[in-house]
Amino acid sequence: MRTLKARLASAPVTTVRVLASDTVSIETGALVVGIHASSDGPQVAPGADDLDQALGGTLAAALGAVGFTGKPEEIAKIPTLGALPAPLVLAVGLGERPDDGYDPETLRRASGAAARALSGTASAALALPASTADEAEAVALGALLGAYEFSRYRTGERKEPVGELTVLSAADGADAAVERASTVAEAVSLVRDLVNMPPSDLWPAKFADIAEDAGTKAGLTVEVLDETELKEAGYGGISGVGQGSVNPPRLVRLAYGHPDASRTVAFVGKGITFDSGGLSLKPANSMDWMKSDMGGAGAVLGALITIARLGLPVNAVGYLCLAENMPSGTAMRPSDVLHTFSGKTVEVLNTDAEGRLVLVDGIARAAQDSPDLIVDVATLTGAQIVALGWRTSGVMANDDAIREEVVEVAVSQGEAAWGMPLPDELRKGLDSPVADIANLNPDRWGAMLAAGIFLREFVPDGVRWAHIDMAGPAFNKAEPYGYTPKGGTGAITRTLVALAERYAADGGRAAD
Ligand code: BES
Ligand code: MN
Ligand code: ZN
Repeated sequence: MRTLKARLASAPVTTVRVLASDTVSIETGALVVGIHASSDGPQVAPGADDLDQALGGTLAAALGAVGFTGKPEEIAKIPTLGALPAPLVLAVGLGERPDDGYDPETLRRASGAAARALSGTASAALALPASTADEAEAVALGALLGAYEFSRYRTGERKEPVGELTVLSAADGADAAVERASTVAEAVSLVRDLVNMPPSDLWPAKFADIAEDAGTKAGLTVEVLDETELKEAGYGGISGVGQGSVNPPRLVRLAYGHPDASRTVAFVGKGITFDSGGLSLKPANSMDWMKSDMGGAGAVLGALITIARLGLPVNAVGYLCLAENMPSGTAMRPSDVLHTFSGKTVEVLNTDAEGRLVLVDGIARAAQDSPDLIVDVATLTGAQIVALGWRTSGVMANDDAIREEVVEVAVSQGEAAWGMPLPDELRKGLDSPVADIANLNPDRWGAMLAAGIFLREFVPDGVRWAHIDMAGPAFNKAEPYGYTPKGGTGAITRTLVALAERYAADGGRAAD
């Protein structure tokens, strides 16, 4: 039995609280202020008026003098030279001042950029616009997510995230809102940790253990099927993909129930802890970041934990389809036929199209829970990145209204998403000469859509289903921005929580 050398599932190091008064004399390492861009130069945003007064009303002019414009996420550090107990003011750009109310994403990104710039500081107070509970929540969430660092594998000098954050807000309900932000940030940080962990430390059984541990702590009912149980129960997709690895596959079921719930949502996550491609091996430069191929399962775990901790009045089930896709003497071969949990057979033409094979087992199993909606989340195709780039997930569904609902909910959380079609003519390309369906369309065009068409074949009639392809958004290979770090992003975790909220008894969506 191997033991894990590194620490697991760390709670965020950064803590957050609310303070409603005495914002100027607060003893803290840095005061964060928002700055708007305008045709008259930079302007101090609401929330920092007292502070600006204490500095003699000079803040905007001083920033203008050093060329600061107030464009989104622009950062400047200004020493307070003894005028305030805090030694430093950190100005962050908010762009142009909105006419009516802040877009929460503007606040989250500014707050995130500020928190990142404060790494190494023991404490900071956020004097950003927070005159409503929603604004306070956005400021807190952005800062907590922006402060995230993954440094547990470094032995030399580490960047320490800002230690203690104070959200300055007098809004009604700010305490609860900031508490909520911290619950969400904890789950997103766990998802990021899981994505960032090297696959030598996160194999399927280990992922299942972490899910069982964290899920049980949050109040979820957790069931894990091991490789023997998976085979016996007919999960040919998950078993087939996992059979090439010395680290056997798992299926984790996470369940949450609420007495007032009237509806059930089911989430299914692709959890390939490493995708080498299998015998249809990937080229080296496509493989080096394939530890992120479990981002969908991470998001489902993070969402279920959050739903339980928030006590949402909804029933929710989550499935983590966990396998390691490796080439070996026991690996599935191109032209093998798998018997999936749905009863349908699949000819494997390319072992690198493995995500859809594990997902259809999870989807067919989730349908047995009679959910009102199934959403699967997966780093499914490189074609998603070709079509929509690194930051925008593709959303497909067997119902136009559901697709639009998922897109709207994702965008409301600042998680970029775009509706994509499932053109019926692509189905023919998946015909197999030997099995019910093939896992690959030999025509490479529209590969994100073809993958969606494949999945749709396994959704029982009458079940409403949406599919989120987040191959790009799960992992940020570029520089950090807003509250998004390099590496694992935790993408779609918050979208799933917000979807569950919609389906909650007291949610924003009228019962139908
Ligand atoms: N995990 C990959 C998709 C992926 C690519 C995720 C890039 C994140 C970034 C998936 O399993 C895969 O290999 N897809 C193939 C499918 C093809 C063989 C039909 C692809 O998209 O190339
Ligand atoms: Mn693959
Ligand atoms: Zn994959």
